[in-house]
Amino acid sequence: MNLCAIWMMFSPPMMEEKKIEFVSHASTKYALTSDKMRLKQVFYNLVQNAVDFVPQEGGKIEISAREEGNSILFHVKDNGIGISEKRKESVFKKFYQVELSFKRKYGGSGFGLVICKGIVENLGGKIWFESKEAEGTTFYFSIPK
Ligand SMILES: Nc1ncnc2c1ncn2[C@@H]1O[C@H](COP(=O)(O)OP(=O)(O)OP(=O)(O)O)[C@@H](O)[C@H]1O
Ligand SMILES: [Mg+2]
Repeated sequence: MNLCAIWMMFSPPMMEEKKIEFVSHASTKYALTSDKMRLKQVFYNLVQNAVDFVPQEGGKIEISAREEGNSILFHVKDNGIGISEKRKESVFKKFYQVELSFKRKYGGSGFGLVICKGIVENLGGKIWFESKEAEGTTFYFSIPK
C-alpha cells in the first residue's frame, strides 16, 4: 500500500483547516497481503484523531511503515495534546472521549479506536500507543505479512 495514497484520502479542506505539516517516510516498498480497505480505515481513523488533537498552528503528523520480523509495523505520530496517564487505559473503550468540550468541538462518537482495534486484531495484528501529555502521541499497529 502506498502511504501517499493515505494522505490523499484527506480532503484538502480538512488539511488546510489547521496548518499541519504532513510527513511520511516511505521510501522503501513493502509487500503485504492484507485487507487494503480495512487498513485504510485504520489509517483514516488514526490520522483523523491526530488532525483533531494537534494545535491550530505548528501541528505535525508523520506516518511511516517498516518491516519488523514477519510483520509490517506502521505508525501515526502527532505533536498534539497527548493522552494523560489516567486516560491511557480508556482510549480503546467504546464511547470514550477526553471531555465533553472536546466532544462538542470535534463531534466524534468515541468509536474510532474501537474500530481500529477490531480491524487490526481481526487481521492478526496488534495496536498500541505511546503518549506524553502536551507533547504528542504515536499510535503503532503491526500487520502480519
Ligand atoms: N492522537 C490523539 N491525541 C490525543 N488524544 C487522542 C488521540 N487519539 C485518540 N485520543 C483520545 O482517545 C479518545 C477516543 O478516540 P476515538 O477515535 O475512539 O474517538 P473520537 O475520535 O472521540 O470519536 P470518533 O473517532 O468516533 O469520531 C479521543 O476522544 C481522545 O480523547
Ligand atoms: Mg477518532
